[in-house]
Amino acid sequence: MINPRLTALPPYPFQRLATLLDGVAPGADPLMLSLGEPQHPTPPLVGAELARHADLWRRYPPAAGAPRWKEAVVAWMTRRYALPEGMVDPAQVIPASGTREALYMMGHLLVDGTVTASGGNRVPLAIMPDPFYLPYLGASAMNGAEILTIPAGPETDFQPDIAALPDEVLDRAAVVFMCSPGNPQGSLLSLDQWKALVTLAREREFVLVADECYSEIYDAEAPSGVLEACRDLGGSLKNVLVANSLSKRSNAAGLRSGFIAGDPDLIAAFLRIRAYGAAGMPLPIQEASAALWEDEDHVIANRILYREKIDAAEKHLSGHLGFRRPPGGFFLWLDTTEWGETGEEATLRLWRDRGLKVLPGVYMSAHPEDPNNPCRHRLRIALLHDTLVVDRAMDRLIASEK
Ligand SMILES: Cc1ncc(COP(=O)(O)O)c(C=O)c1O
Repeated sequence: MINPRLTALPPYPFQRLATLLDGVAPGADPLMLSLGEPQHPTPPLVGAELARHADLWRRYPPAAGAPRWKEAVVAWMTRRYALPEGMVDPAQVIPASGTREALYMMGHLLVDGTVTASGGNRVPLAIMPDPFYLPYLGASAMNGAEILTIPAGPETDFQPDIAALPDEVLDRAAVVFMCSPGNPQGSLLSLDQWKALVTLAREREFVLVADECYSEIYDAEAPSGVLEACRDLGGSLKNVLVANSLSKRSNAAGLRSGFIAGDPDLIAAFLRIRAYGAAGMPLPIQEASAALWEDEDHVIANRILYREKIDAAEKHLSGHLGFRRPPGGFFLWLDTTEWGETGEEATLRLWRDRGLKVLPGVYMSAHPEDPNNPCRHRLRIALLHDTLVVDRAMDRLIASEK
């Protein structure tokens, strides 16, 4: 009765975590470091804009986005990535009710689900890093793609080395997902790496999906984006789609507000799918989102607070557990080898003995059961609470050393 491809998807990380900790009482007042849900207050302008545009709730939203919203996003991109005026047309930007749903749906857009592995045919590949944000594989796998995950470990600065893949693999690729800053490791792709990826996508005829949802949360330098690479390569967005979101940038995960921009042909085709299956972003939310994209002050303040939290973590963890200051994002990607435990064992112990809820790194892998998976000795820790709370949590974490 139920599509067997659904059963074959890896369990979602937070469901696995709930199962792991089911019935285990926390050993101290619980501190949540597992979910990547921003805790800084949402800018008050959101409430004001929603109230101001309350008359728009009665209207079905246009799937392509309202003009003010589109212009605000294009203006933000143009400023943020120093793009020439007019490089991105507002028609090339569409809203997503949170980028998760759009990233999930990419597989419907990009994978030819009619190709089966019979008669010598080879099914299309959907390529993504490992570990990664699991929705990337969602519709690709549901649509019959073969999922190819590329290790993103310390050897390659925690980003997958797509350029090293043989041509015959890249020629089978329908889509390559990249994430910079990466979740969970926080590594950045350089402008040169983005340029190489865009060039490869065009040569080998796959679509490059750039997930840049953490682009505004960074330590020393603003991460490069795929749009800058397109700019330097002549301005075309051919074979490229980029996703970004207000969830992290503006502490507005509950607003469910992001965008997809890119290749006009792909955007037009995506709109066709979305006419069937997407909710559309309510117009008052588009208005509030436009106001957020227009404002940079709250984003700067946000970044300063995240840096303070990372400073607090560094103070406690420097030299331990493979601590590495993440260049982007707000996660730590710790190595539990020195504890002689897997990430799962450490997660259970930290909850039971210390009341710290963290995420086993292997839950973000497509191969959680593989005994040689390097993510088995990883923990993902989200630094989101007030700096004082982060300080207390890191103190507890390190005091828990066996
Ligand atoms: C890497 C990555 N991409 C995309 C998203 C989706 O965010 P949203 O649906 O809130 O825009 C998340 C959320 O946690 C994420 O971690």
